[in-house]
Amino acid sequence: MAAYHILLVHFPIALLTVAMVAILLRAVSDGPLARAVDHALVPLLAVGVVSTAVAYAIGFRVWSVEAITSSPLGRNHILAASWTLAYWAVLLLVRWRGGEAVWEGLSRWVMVGLALLGSVLLTITGTLGGHLTGTPTAASQALRAMGWEVYTTFYVPDMTLYVIGGAAVVLLVVAMATRLGRTA
Ligand code: HEM
Repeated sequence: MAAYHILLVHFPIALLTVAMVAILLRAVSDGPLARAVDHALVPLLAVGVVSTAVAYAIGFRVWSVEAITSSPLGRNHILAASWTLAYWAVLLLVRWRGGEAVWEGLSRWVMVGLALLGSVLLTITGTLGGHLTGTPTAASQALRAMGWEVYTTFYVPDMTLYVIGGAAVVLLVVAMATRLGRTA
């Protein structure tokens, strides 16, 4: 299955990188080219997310689950892949459900933030995958410089998880209150 995983990962890498460029272009331009590119964004993101999900699922068939989860590098690869899949799925939902309104006001910069974060996570996932196949790149030097040694399991303090959970609840409450305010 290794060959299939390696073949498949090139789809999300290419498609989501193009989607990131399209989002950056639309965020800074209201011109005809940016609008035309934006019309292709939902299908582009949809194919990108589906191909990420397929590459993700096949990833679990490359080595046994015991083998991939027994090394910090393997665990980090799964973690980064899960974040990547989740972030791009959120971006797809936001653009799909939000329509062209996502480019109004501040929300266009939220789109830029999500796209850049998603691309960084995709790059980290690929970098760790390269380490797993024995073809490491210098990209991990950048992660080391930021304080993360990729050969050690990535942990965040419990407090970070509480803050993320709290922020998610606050955002849900704000969204529901805004919706109620609009329908009232
Ligand atoms: C967003 C999803 C994923 C992406 C973009 C991705 C990307 C990559 C890349 C770029 C490589 C290196 C390919 C090469 O050097 O030619 C790789 C290798 C690998 N990935 Fe993933 N991966 C993803 C998800 C997963 C998941 C979920 C697992 C396991 C649970 C996994 C397991 C592996 C393994 C075991 C290798 C090494 C394959 C070998 O030994 O040849 N990947 N991955």
